[in-house]
Amino acid sequence: MASAQLSEILKQATGVLAARGEGVLLFDEDDRRYLDFTAGIGVTSTGHCHPRVVEAAQRQVGTLIHAQYTTVMHRPLLTLVERMGEVLPEGLDRVFFANSGSEAVEAALRLSRQATGRPNMIAFHGGFHGRTVAAASLTTSGTKFRSGFAPLMAGVHVAPFPDPTHYGWPVEQATDFALAQLDYLLQTMSSPADTAAFLVEPVLGEGGYVPGNERFFAGLRERADKYGILLVVDEVQTGFGRTGKFWGGEHFGAKPEILITAKGLASGFPLSGIAASSELMAKAWPGSQGGTYGANAVACAAALATLDVIRDENLVENSAQRGAQLKEALQLVADKHDAITDVRGLGLMIGNEFRDADGKPDGATATAVQQEAAKRGLLLLTCGAWGQVVRFIPALVVTSEQVDEAAAIWADAVNAVVAR
Ligand SMILES: Cc1ncc(COP(=O)(O)O)c(C=O)c1O
Repeated sequence: MASAQLSEILKQATGVLAARGEGVLLFDEDDRRYLDFTAGIGVTSTGHCHPRVVEAAQRQVGTLIHAQYTTVMHRPLLTLVERMGEVLPEGLDRVFFANSGSEAVEAALRLSRQATGRPNMIAFHGGFHGRTVAAASLTTSGTKFRSGFAPLMAGVHVAPFPDPTHYGWPVEQATDFALAQLDYLLQTMSSPADTAAFLVEPVLGEGGYVPGNERFFAGLRERADKYGILLVVDEVQTGFGRTGKFWGGEHFGAKPEILITAKGLASGFPLSGIAASSELMAKAWPGSQGGTYGANAVACAAALATLDVIRDENLVENSAQRGAQLKEALQLVADKHDAITDVRGLGLMIGNEFRDADGKPDGATATAVQQEAAKRGLLLLTCGAWGQVVRFIPALVVTSEQVDEAAAIWADAVNAVVAR
């Protein structure tokens, strides 16, 4: 009998075959319990199978699964649009939905170009914006996302992100450098008249869990206003309470013209979106965006339940509080090991940077510790250009006890791998 196998294109961070999930916990087919501090790469904001999300999705499955939104309209979508108004930054009162983060990034790109009539995008070094070819063209967190399928999309320029760890400078100096290089780029490579938008993450995600800062975002805003360039903030990973505020950009007073959201929005159902002002959206060409599956009715119902759960269970506050607890515990481990040179992040988006004795990024040790933690029942992911950062990104429902348990496993895993 003919049989097929899964393609080698996929690479898996753990050997776990997940059978079921419950909150922060995952269970494999032998019913082994894991603390899932990956949350499906920051997606299961309300935890695995939150009863209210399950109930809403099940009800919708039995009512209407696919109401194709360029053919007919459906109530879960219309209600979600209204409810997004409660959480979106002021002035962003028009929403468009797609399925994945990459698609939403492309939606923002199309809108930016159509609205300004300008071709170029300026992205920031270390940023991750997705894997479709246009999104990959805007991605500079690692060559693994770009190599071997060139040519990429034209019209992309890259300016530095104020990353103190990478440059080895204080944050002030890294910010001065990033803004000065942005000015130089606008003067020498992409004139303001050709530049549609700046595209930036509030916290570099895949690029190593590096937070931006207030002065950097003020500098972007100032230049955007001066030159009529749009500020597009990619909140795919940082949104929906992940950083201890509803949007990551709130930490830095970021005032985007376009906000991109996905991941935590629907607790695991594929749903993404962009938001902008009515004036800006009116400049898009009608019918220029859409898609077969965008704003799927079950995904929208799950997103509505997600918004309810985040509000009713105070998950944004929990993210801030459990994040502070976790960061403190991880810092205590780092204090005991020279190999961990930095513990950083906001809310429940925390990275541990590994460096070798020469101060070079140490992806091998980071991966060894991540694997050791998985063996001990704690699922984690790496990130950073060299895979040198181990990131903690649990569901926002994580409890104080689960944070303590994860920190204890982490301490054991680090001890097992790293000689002092
Ligand atoms: C900041 C950011 N933008 C865009 C994406 C792409 O999202 P997706 O994988 O759903 O296409 C991601 C995914 O990790 C992300 O973290």
